[in-house]
Amino acid sequence: MRILLFSGKGGVGKTSLAAATGVRLAQRGVKTLVMSVDPAHSLADSFDLGVDLFTSKTSDPYPVNDFLDIHEVNIQREIKRHWREVSGYLISVLRATGVSDVEAEELAILPGMEELSAMMYVNQYRREDRYEAVVLDCAPTAESLRFVSMPTTLDWYMKHIFPMQRTLIKAVRPIANRVSPVELPTDSYFANVLDLFQKLDGIDELLADPERTSVRLVTNAEKMVLRETQRAFVYFSLHGLNVDRILVNRVLPASVEDGFFNTWRRSQAEILREIDEYFAPVPVRRVPLFQQEVLGIELLELVADALYEINEDPASVGSRERPYTFEKIEGVYQVKLRLPFATKGEVGLFKKGNELVVQIGTLRRHIGLPTSMAGLTPARARLENKILTVEMKEVA
Ligand SMILES: Nc1ncnc2c1ncn2[C@@H]1O[C@H](COP(=O)(O)OP(=O)(O)OP(=O)(O)O)[C@@H](O)[C@H]1O
Ligand SMILES: [Mg+2]
Repeated sequence: MRILLFSGKGGVGKTSLAAATGVRLAQRGVKTLVMSVDPAHSLADSFDLGVDLFTSKTSDPYPVNDFLDIHEVNIQREIKRHWREVSGYLISVLRATGVSDVEAEELAILPGMEELSAMMYVNQYRREDRYEAVVLDCAPTAESLRFVSMPTTLDWYMKHIFPMQRTLIKAVRPIANRVSPVELPTDSYFANVLDLFQKLDGIDELLADPERTSVRLVTNAEKMVLRETQRAFVYFSLHGLNVDRILVNRVLPASVEDGFFNTWRRSQAEILREIDEYFAPVPVRRVPLFQQEVLGIELLELVADALYEINEDPASVGSRERPYTFEKIEGVYQVKLRLPFATKGEVGLFKKGNELVVQIGTLRRHIGLPTSMAGLTPARARLENKILTVEMKEVA
């Protein structure tokens, strides 16, 4: 089963491109699910289905055609199904602090619950072999980053904190419940957490396997959007996910000749160049701005035509190469950069804000640094087997 994650800044076109990809996969006879992880669901709208999947009683995946299902994760239903004890406990704690029932129920929906629920489905579908491709329409970048880092966090929690807490609670519960106004979690709470954890078992390996999971970053040819895309690229890479395509949506078509758009066209051309250079060797695809909103299967097919070449399999792995990686070796932070076309020459290194800028001859690469390295400066670099290693040091 292939997993394709569509992520990007708010409003760039994630849902449209994810839906179009689902449509194309289904046309190719691939049994596909497009699942929305964004609480502000718009998948059904994108397909122009005229049904409200959110309130519909039909259980979960909704068939669009023989090969295509769509699913909007409904958090209320998920809480009943997976998070009952966890949210029940949270509600009781919140109530004890004087929060009203309705508010407590609202607050007990923790950020990330929807995403984790979606991952449980992905895991389940994988076990059941129900779909050949799952396309995930993610919430805007920040949330989807939390989504992919969650399994690792959970894993750590489960190994280190959970057992301790559980024994501790067992020991103190008889006394604590008499003196404290807040109930301590019951055993069923721990059982529920354990059960959730088991449902997520193996998902981190699945996400980190480039043959099975790919991230498609959706962006626009605008400076502010590009910055966020670059940050997202760094973080997905840090979490071990493979970004295998960059999709630039809403590119002004050449046929737009109105003078009003001249400046737009120039700045888009410049940003498009920057995008190609920054993400190489990851392939960059462009989707034009359409004359209207992309609604319904027919328009989604046109988007897919722009996004994929004729006979191209949208599930194929677009790139397995990381343009750069971050490592800490014997206490030294290193940025490794793949420079397949680099020739010998003077290597220029400098910092620009939170970016490391590497210049070799006429080639210039901007690399957004992770927070842990943002305060460091490049100390030295060596080029070996087309890989440039830059050592990052504390400023003296
Ligand atoms: N290439 C395009 N040409 C014209 N309209 C487009 C194009 N791509 C997307 N749209 C329209 O732009 C709007 C936003 O797109 P979409 O919902 O796919 O973005 P999103 O990134 O999923 O947004 P959100 O962050 O809110 O989930 C929709 O009305 C969609 O139909
Ligand atoms: Mg969306």
